[in-house]
Amino acid sequence: MTNLVLGIDVGGSSVKAGVVDLEAGRVTGELISAPTPRPSPPAALMPVIAGLAARLPGPSGTVGIAFPSVVKSGIVRTAANIDPSWVGTDGAALAARALGRPALLLNDADAAGVAEMRWGAGRGTSGIAIMVTLGTGIGTALFCDGRLFPNTELGHIELRGMDAERWASAQVRTAEKLDFPTWIARVNEYLGRLHALFWPDLFILGGAVSERFEEFAPLLRSPAVLRPAHFAGQAGVVGAALAAAESST
Ligand code: BGC
Repeated sequence: MTNLVLGIDVGGSSVKAGVVDLEAGRVTGELISAPTPRPSPPAALMPVIAGLAARLPGPSGTVGIAFPSVVKSGIVRTAANIDPSWVGTDGAALAARALGRPALLLNDADAAGVAEMRWGAGRGTSGIAIMVTLGTGIGTALFCDGRLFPNTELGHIELRGMDAERWASAQVRTAEKLDFPTWIARVNEYLGRLHALFWPDLFILGGAVSERFEEFAPLLRSPAVLRPAHFAGQAGVVGAALAAAESST
């Protein structure tokens, strides 16, 4: 396994990139970013990804890319918060062409979960763990005894007659100008529904909640253990790089 791997995380508002040191289990040097183009079809996003990679020379080998969609064998299968023209495209092949080296594409929440389970809040956890990322959408990653069940998409379960991420994501909080107690009550309801369906031992909360966990913790309720993500905004980059390194060994 190479020690330095490039990780990229495509988000709704920005694309982040960093060189991940797999011995230390963290980004080494600067985490850089660029705005996600709007709209963001492949032809607009690929130059942004290539531009960030060019600013981080050094690591060679497979690049890991966390993407906000279901990804199966490199093919993008859904597009809840990304341009719909991505659906059906071979995102891994497009990225490999733009970067001039192999690329591994995986779901962004899965990438974040992989990083947390290896080096962060889920380290050493057995049983059922669910990583929940609250951002533009809601992303989830489900683990049983540390093994990922990929592409779970539990941000789209029905809650209050609507798609859960339209009710409880961080973007909804901003758009509807909800105060924190009101928003956290929605998050609690969402976690309660997940708990009733999957009975996790641990929830790892990433995105907006992890950044201000001290403030939110007294309001959060769940029968499962709740922990903030350790990597905060870096989890997708770190996990994508780890997945890429492991895919090429
Ligand atoms: C997408 C997921 C993604 C999540 C977080 C959801 O809308 O369907 O694939 O993981 O947003 O970006």
